Amino acid sequence: MKNNIQSVRPRRWESSNPESQSGAETLQDFYGVLERKVVGQPNALRQIVPYIQMHRAGLAPENRPAGVFLLLGPTGTGKTRTVEALAEMLHGSEKSMVRVDCGEFQMEHEVAKLIGAPPGYLGHRETQPMLTQAKLNAATSEHCNLSIVLFDEVEKAAGSLARLLLGVLDKATLRLGDNNTVNFERSLIFLTSNLGAEAMARQLKPWFGLEAVAKPGHDDNLDSAEDKLKRIGVAAVRRKFSPEFVNRIDVVLTYRPLTAAALSAILDLQLADLQSHIIRRLGGRAFRLAISKGAKQFLLRNGTSVEYGARELKRTILRTVTQPISALLAAGRIEPGCRVAIELEKDGQSLRIVPKLDPVPPKEGTVS
Ligand SMILES: Nc1ncnc2c1ncn2[C@@H]1O[C@H](COP(=O)(O)OP(=O)(O)OP(=O)(O)O)[C@@H](O)[C@H]1O
Ligand SMILES: [Mg+2]
Repeated sequence: MKNNIQSVRPRRWESSNPESQSGAETLQDFYGVLERKVVGQPNALRQIVPYIQMHRAGLAPENRPAGVFLLLGPTGTGKTRTVEALAEMLHGSEKSMVRVDCGEFQMEHEVAKLIGAPPGYLGHRETQPMLTQAKLNAATSEHCNLSIVLFDEVEKAAGSLARLLLGVLDKATLRLGDNNTVNFERSLIFLTSNLGAEAMARQLKPWFGLEAVAKPGHDDNLDSAEDKLKRIGVAAVRRKFSPEFVNRIDVVLTYRPLTAAALSAILDLQLADLQSHIIRRLGGRAFRLAISKGAKQFLLRNGTSVEYGARELKRTILRTVTQPISALLAAGRIEPGCRVAIELEKDGQSLRIVPKLDPVPPKEGTVS
């Protein structure tokens, strides 16, 4: 069966023309764009969007970050993807953010890497702080002055980093080793954590076989699972962090386990991305991908699971689609403008890539 994936058309305020940034920007606009990039997490997205709009309206509270979010939930369900999608939406690139991997700051003294050593201390000149006002400003764009700051795996941060973070969340300022300050009033701060993840996984096992969530009425299941996961996550966070820290979080977002339908939609998104990539990179040598239903099932079976979400999907596509196609290209077996059929082998254990003549030109973001 043929399946068309429409490319994501840029909205006015997503365009590269700064003139087009003014005018109506409704919650629905923001939400709609995010929803097409992050599948199956409506509650999380709905809670982020009002903070962006409050900032754009100039009504965000002063002396506070524009929003502080704690993202909890099972692995591979879109927590980091949400932050990347926001960066794409606001600044045109998923990399336009300041990202601090808290796992790199597990020792008390390592916090100097983040803020620089004070003058007179050993290494003062060599340690350039990772978090500076210039870096925060560089993560904004001409369309939007709101920077996105991600503290990944916040539970791994040493006490010294957690204390610094407390100041950032509370007063939106960070004092650096050289006494300069960094202002986070125009920042959305995202903290991700795996706290409670094990207990969540245990909780999910009996509830969510792929078949169970594919059944009609599974949304109710998901709602109550989300509540349950939230309780587990928040309890784990309260055990780990002080009440002051927890109180400075504006919203705790709990990510749901992905349903079979959501995983399938994520596969479609990733295949559409691959098609766009082929067109952008190969120009006149580009070709069209056509993927069979059986091949999709194969990718879903091998790249996704209720337990690990969509974590392995990109790698599976790379290994079983992109790499074999690259080998055929290198061997000169794919003619420009042809159709590359991706089919399941008879034994069901691998994919077969078959270039065919094709009169239809390839189109970005579309896979048949
Ligand atoms: N809800 C989703 N919508 C779209 N893509 C998704 C979604 N969830 C996962 N993915 C895909 O899977 C990859 C891994 O997801 P992501 O990095 O967001 O996981 P995570 O929730 O941050 O997990 P972890 O707790 O292990 O860090 C993403 O790069 C993305 O391609
Ligand atoms: Mg992540």
